[in-house]
Amino acid sequence: MAASRRFRPAYLVVLALALPPIVRIAQWVNRPAPRTLTTESIAAGRELFNHNWTPKDKLASGDGLGPVFNARSCVECHSQGGGGGGGPVDKNVTVYGISSGTKPATEGIPLIGVVHFKATEPKYQDLLSHVAGGLPGQPRIELTSLVDRSFRAPSGVSITQRNTPALFGDGQLDAIPEDVLHAEQRRNSTAARIVGMSRAKDPNVRGRVARLPDGRLGRFGWKAEFATLNEFVKAACANELGLSNPGRPQATPLAYRSYKEPGADLTDLQCQQMTDFISSLEAPTQALPSDKNEAARVHEGEQTFARIGCADCHTPDMGPIKGFYSNLLLHDMGADLASSTGYYGEAPAAPPSSPGGTPIPVASEWKTPPLWGVADSAPYLHDGRASTLDEAILAHGGEAKGVVANYRGLKPAEQADVVAFLKTLKAPAVKNPIQTAAK
Ligand code: HEC
Ligand code: HEC
Repeated sequence: MAASRRFRPAYLVVLALALPPIVRIAQWVNRPAPRTLTTESIAAGRELFNHNWTPKDKLASGDGLGPVFNARSCVECHSQGGGGGGGPVDKNVTVYGISSGTKPATEGIPLIGVVHFKATEPKYQDLLSHVAGGLPGQPRIELTSLVDRSFRAPSGVSITQRNTPALFGDGQLDAIPEDVLHAEQRRNSTAARIVGMSRAKDPNVRGRVARLPDGRLGRFGWKAEFATLNEFVKAACANELGLSNPGRPQATPLAYRSYKEPGADLTDLQCQQMTDFISSLEAPTQALPSDKNEAARVHEGEQTFARIGCADCHTPDMGPIKGFYSNLLLHDMGADLASSTGYYGEAPAAPPSSPGGTPIPVASEWKTPPLWGVADSAPYLHDGRASTLDEAILAHGGEAKGVVANYRGLKPAEQADVVAFLKTLKAPAVKNPIQTAAK
């Protein structure tokens, strides 16, 4: 009896490693087939991405820009290192969350959403005070006072920000088969640990796929809340610019819940063109220094990055993508980095968990951001609180605590090598010139 019992864990391990791929083939098949991009579609998408939208815009069929919006064009935020890049802190988006049981200041507003910077008319302007009593009558709080906690939201309410990430290479991210994400999760599972096949060196590093309420896996956004590039584009149109579309209604002003939009602003085709344009953006590349000594330092830095456990989460290759430096899994990053889940805007908030699925990201969980292009996407972390790479690394908590302790334990020259390596991960050389003057 004792002998057969000893075999049991091994069976479980085999099952845990072998079953999931079979079960998930159906979900994999559900992903849309990759599109063939045409020059016309990319050019049309570029124009829409760079366009400065106005109320009743000639390119829109509804009310055009707004009534509430964060910027007048996509490129106003996505601008660093060329159109499609990351954005500075002053373009950060303010995200609120109200826990169930707390009464919002305005009846009928979603429990998670965005407080928009701007409005087409003063009566539509979103203010924090519309979210909850005790919040100021302004649309945003300075990031520094959110981070150093000199500003405190009333209990049951969270006010945080999101920094604009770069979109270079997002077409490749869109095309990664779901099975690759599941395989990453399995590599950090207890089963993999038992048989000594765990990817993560540090036992605290786990990570899980971001399963959406409909069962698909999330991969776009800081919390991996969206499964496909096209869906994120539609949400961005609706949320950032107030351009409603067949995928998503535009944001309704917090202050003016009775606002009725005259119809969708954009067509499915226009959203697809923007998606095609983003998919056409070249992926970031590694630019190695020509100086031999410098190149040797970078090589050292890359080795150290892997040795101390950074690559546990920032895995260099992800299925077909080389030099990506992310596992696309959600990791608990500790209380200091916590923020409510919401970037859903006006769409119905996801239930806290889907039957049989994993719960949507909790406050302290973030998707490992790909580090490709990181040299050109400062400031860092989900709200841009870190202005240097070193600061970003030292801010890691939660599951990354042990790995960051390893980093702190390095000699200053070794730390500098890691940073030198990260600085070779550049935005692509082929750029989308910014055609419209960002305001
Ligand atoms: C006000 C600034 C701002 C504007 C304008 C803006 N974005 Fe973004 N964008 C963001 C922020 C912030 C995020 C991250 C949101 C999150 O994950 O919570 C983001 C994320 C994205 C992502 C997901 C990227 C990834 O790899 O995860 C896509 C795609 C995107 N934006 C496309 C667009 C498009 C298309 C437009 C124009 C319709 C646009 N954005 C306009 C700020 C902006
Ligand atoms: C447990 C998984 C994990 C480990 C280990 C880890 N990271 Fe991260 N890393 C993350 C997550 C998740 C974020 C995003 C956190 C946020 O935005 O609040 C991040 C963010 C970053 C950023 C900022 C990227 C950006 O675009 O803003 C850099 C740089 C970085 N990590 C480098 C490192 C280095 C170097 C190490 C090793 C010392 C390391 N990480 C170890 C998960 C990890």
